[in-house]
Amino acid sequence: MPNVAVVAGGAGGMVLAAAHVVGRDSAVVISDVDPDRLRAAERELSEAGIVCTATVCDITDRGSVAALVTELVRLCNLGPWARRPQLAYVLSKNFVIWHSKAMAADFGAKGARVLSVSPGSFDTAMGQLEKNVAAGALAQLGAL
Ligand SMILES: NC(=O)c1ccc[n+]([C@@H]2O[C@H](COP(=O)([O-])OP(=O)(O)OC[C@H]3O[C@@H](n4cnc5c(N)ncnc54)[C@H](O)[C@@H]3O)[C@@H](O)[C@H]2O)c1
Repeated sequence: MPNVAVVAGGAGGMVLAAAHVVGRDSAVVISDVDPDRLRAAERELSEAGIVCTATVCDITDRGSVAALVTELVRLCNLGPWARRPQLAYVLSKNFVIWHSKAMAADFGAKGARVLSVSPGSFDTAMGQLEKNVAAGALAQLGAL
């Protein structure tokens, strides 16, 4: 399978320019909320010799993004999305770290400490739930 780069909001100026760059060594899935701009962008990329698939997607609309993800999973032969909950887990935990840093910057000057704890895997009720799909699975992957 060739590399596949996903470009969201891709029919506009900056992102379409980026699609030309990543398209040098990847197939491109380009998406945009505007079907007319999307068609023009798909034509432009194809004429530049880039393997390109266009999918209309409004990135502010959950259903529209879900449809894009379904299309990507099909194109990339990834298997059911539901088997990949680790991604949501990693994103949520990284958000907590980022948000804690932002809060620490905001409130540190007022004398408050903001801490977040990233403890790894522990044998609690939630730890058991996460054992095969989230923290536990990531610990297994990390050990490889
Ligand atoms: N132009 C700049 O100077 C500049 C600088 C720094 C960052 N950016 C960022 O780069 C990104 C693209 O900017 P640009 O200058 O190429 O703009 P652009 O107007 O040329 O392109 C934006 C594209 O996004 C699409 N779009 C808008 N809402 C959408 C949605 N809900 N779902 C999917 N697609 C949507 C539009 O149809 C359009 O094709 C923006 O996030 C912008 O903030 C731009």
